[in-house]
Amino acid sequence: MARTYVITGAASGIGKATAELLEGRGHTVIGIDLHGADVEADLTTADGRGGLADAVREKAPDGIDAVVAVAGLAHPVPATVAVNYFGMVATLENLRPLLLGSPAPRAAGVASMASLQPHDAELVEAMLAGDEPRSLARAEVLAADEQTGQLIYGSTKAAFARWIRRNAAGPDWAGASIPLNAVAPGIIRTPMTEGMIATEEAAQELLKIVPMPLNGIAEPAVVAHLLAWLTSEENSHLCGQVVFVDGGSDVVIRGDSVW
Ligand SMILES: NC(=O)c1ccc[n+]([C@@H]2O[C@H](COP(=O)([O-])OP(=O)(O)OC[C@H]3O[C@@H](n4cnc5c(N)ncnc54)[C@H](O)[C@@H]3O)[C@@H](O)[C@H]2O)c1
Repeated sequence: MARTYVITGAASGIGKATAELLEGRGHTVIGIDLHGADVEADLTTADGRGGLADAVREKAPDGIDAVVAVAGLAHPVPATVAVNYFGMVATLENLRPLLLGSPAPRAAGVASMASLQPHDAELVEAMLAGDEPRSLARAEVLAADEQTGQLIYGSTKAAFARWIRRNAAGPDWAGASIPLNAVAPGIIRTPMTEGMIATEEAAQELLKIVPMPLNGIAEPAVVAHLLAWLTSEENSHLCGQVVFVDGGSDVVIRGDSVW
């Protein structure tokens, strides 16, 4: 059955690939992005986040079936905290009421294998406390130094993965029959990573940090297929899972330590 999906970050990379895949299957997609989307919104701002529900309701007066929160940044700056954590959580929370009339409501977001890399405990704690001013202030301190700045991205993804774990089984999501899950990609060939993998040498260096023994660096369609399944009618019972679609990074780095 044709469904209506809302996808943030729909103008580029993984979000764009997901929109194209779902549209190709006959579904309706409402794309959200800074520019070049059905709804233009800046998810670092209260205005951008606050206007989401009304803008989507205008385009889909009968409600929506799924929310896919993809928009993100990888720069070592405070804005990365604002979009990757607070923007992603606001997208899911603000659009959740629009899912309630769907016969098969679903939600998913994009974490990262970077959640396994070193992160800053103080920043993660501030994000999970929902304290955006404190989180931005901590990110500002981290960003001032090149080395600590590198902790910001992984911290946003670790916090988002934990938010998924803490909320998916609760009354708003499982209690409303909405499977809420996340994907954790390895290195995906998108505008976000193009500078990091521009040469074979650079790509090999990155693969030392993000090992991908299964098929190496992936195209965005790989992640799109998983997001499409997580938010499809077929997924009725996956709850609070962060599914690593990373060519094996999680397995190489964590081994069996998750159990
Ligand atoms: N590419 C990778 O290797 C990789 C790996 C793991 C996770 N991810 C995650 O996947 C998601 C998508 O990344 P991508 O690789 O497709 O990157 P991308 O840069 O191609 O696309 C990101 C999109 O998000 C949008 N965006 C950024 N800031 C925004 C804001 N303030 N408001 C609204 N939209 C905003 C951008 O305009 C862009 O269209 C991100 O959350 C990223 O962290 C990517």
